[in-house]
Amino acid sequence: MTTSKQTTLKSNTKPLIKLIKQDHENVKDLFSEFEKLHDKKNSNEKKTLIVNQICHELTLHALAEEKIIYPVAREEINDTDLMDEADVEHAGAKNLIKELSSMDPSDSHYDAKVIVLKEYIEHHVKEEESEMLPKLEKSDIDGEGLAEKFIKFKEKHEKNNINSNSQKGKSYKST
Ligand SMILES: [Fe+2]
Repeated sequence: MTTSKQTTLKSNTKPLIKLIKQDHENVKDLFSEFEKLHDKKNSNEKKTLIVNQICHELTLHALAEEKIIYPVAREEINDTDLMDEADVEHAGAKNLIKELSSMDPSDSHYDAKVIVLKEYIEHHVKEEESEMLPKLEKSDIDGEGLAEKFIKFKEKHEKNNINSNSQKGKSYKST
């Protein structure tokens, strides 16, 4: 009588994959906003807001992935090389984020650092979306449970981050 028993037993991974991809899209849009300002004069204030937002989003996303997703992925997809590369890419991005956080758009190499960060993230996102996520999607992970944990982790740290950034007081919101 029952059909597709397999799919009913398996936790749905789609919400989790969607969440991760949505974060990737948000950051991609912010980088595009930054690129529009590249040669524009008097755009330093807006550049600062966008870069603050990029750094904030990336830090939150990377932290949530490292705490919630990567440990499970490392166990489930059994691809040490892929996961090690992801770790190293996160660490590299964090270094650039750290440098940018203490810089001003008028500083030498500011734009170059943002563009290199963008290229770095593009490469990382491509690997996640073409290799890690499809493997996770096919695995036996608790996709719904992880999606919930991912959201809660980000919410909790978003609040902490907003409090600690209260002196800056500004963030960039596209549209
Ligand atoms: Fe990542």
